[in-house]
Amino acid sequence: MDKLLIRGGHALNGEIAMSGAKNAALPILCASLLTAEALEFSNVPQLNDISTMLRLLGDMGVAITRDGDDGMVCLDGSTLNNPVASYEMVKTMRASILVLGPLLARCGEAKVSLPGGCAIGARPVDQHIKGLQAMGAEVKVEQGYVHARASRLKGARICTDMVTVTGTENLMMAACLADGETIIENAAREPEVVDLANCLVAMGARISGAGTDIVRIQGVDKLHGARHAIMPDRIETGTYLCAAAVTGGKVRLTRTSAAYLDSVVDKLLDAGCEIVIERDAIQLSAPARLKSVSLRTAPYPAFPTDMQAQFMAMNCVADGVATIRETIFENRFMHVNELMRLGANIQIEGNNAVVRGVGQLQGATVMATDLRASASLIIAGLVAQGETQIDRIYHLDRGYERIEQKLSALGASVERLR
Ligand code: EPZ
Repeated sequence: MDKLLIRGGHALNGEIAMSGAKNAALPILCASLLTAEALEFSNVPQLNDISTMLRLLGDMGVAITRDGDDGMVCLDGSTLNNPVASYEMVKTMRASILVLGPLLARCGEAKVSLPGGCAIGARPVDQHIKGLQAMGAEVKVEQGYVHARASRLKGARICTDMVTVTGTENLMMAACLADGETIIENAAREPEVVDLANCLVAMGARISGAGTDIVRIQGVDKLHGARHAIMPDRIETGTYLCAAAVTGGKVRLTRTSAAYLDSVVDKLLDAGCEIVIERDAIQLSAPARLKSVSLRTAPYPAFPTDMQAQFMAMNCVADGVATIRETIFENRFMHVNELMRLGANIQIEGNNAVVRGVGQLQGATVMATDLRASASLIIAGLVAQGETQIDRIYHLDRGYERIEQKLSALGASVERLR
């Protein structure tokens, strides 16, 4: 298994470009199941999760051409012939559940393995199923698979019990081909949901309200081909901002936008950073030492749970005490024990973590447990004294494109050990 070796103590300075958003690309690739016409996507990030999704869609019969270097992916769903997502494929990536709604809408049936949990929580999909049943689908869960059938889905009013990003996305895609109007209440407002809606509208869908908590979809008989550029990755952007902030650096991140990062930018300003926002770039200058910032994760536009671990790493060496409250996932503190191996002072009380800033972290060998936890260990390693070795970095490769190249371009001393 690959490892990452980081020698701490270098401030990050310079300019790098951000990649397309993983969590927008994943549902948008699944939109290829909704039409028999060709789709052309640009700015698709080169990530293991994207490759997994393309393999899954290919297994179903979608024709795929991918020009690796410039992030172009073309998909043709006209040869879709196998509405099954096997456990082998789904167990490595829970986002595979996003094929359920489109398959059901296009083929009238779907057999999708339950995703199973992961390090950060049980990750149930009961809201996805409840919504499809409200639209008239017959859904059974047997031997670890969701079996769904519907001759034609009918528009329905759906109110999810909690805000669910992929739940909103699955139901929105299914509703595009339903008979009549679907209203999704308590919908997720994440920018990635809006990017998916924009792509579906380009394909001929009739959607209004995406980005608000009430999304209306008027079903149509079919969708056509389209071109769409994937939005920038706001979590990748936030992650590099944190890496620069904690090392006392000055960076400019291009091909991205601060438009979706208000809550993160606010916390970086509170921590003492200076930030300049440009149309498609963001600059950060860090102070010599950050101030501790407390935060509470919640659905967009509040502070994103996917940035919690990164801010915890920053708080480990900040001046003061910070309280971090995780309200989305029941077990998203897996990075705490690893950060403590580097000398961090963190107490967990339920879904609260109290982080007391220390003067210095000491490099050590640590283990990545999930995608964003891995990012927090990198951030801590960049500022720790000496060498930090991070094991199991396959987690990282799922969500951060060419991370060691991008960090090295900013002056970090980072090396991948095969
Ligand atoms: C999406 O996951 C993202 N993944 C996650 O990013 C992100 O952390 C999460 O949204 C929250 O923002 C993708 O978009 C591919 P949820 P998702 O459904 O949709 C509970 C990353 O690092 N819930 O919004 O799976 C659930 O257990 C990943 O890129 C149910 O109980 O998250 C959780 O507690 C990690 N039943 C809460 O709702 C359901 O049917 C929010 O989950 C669905 C969700």
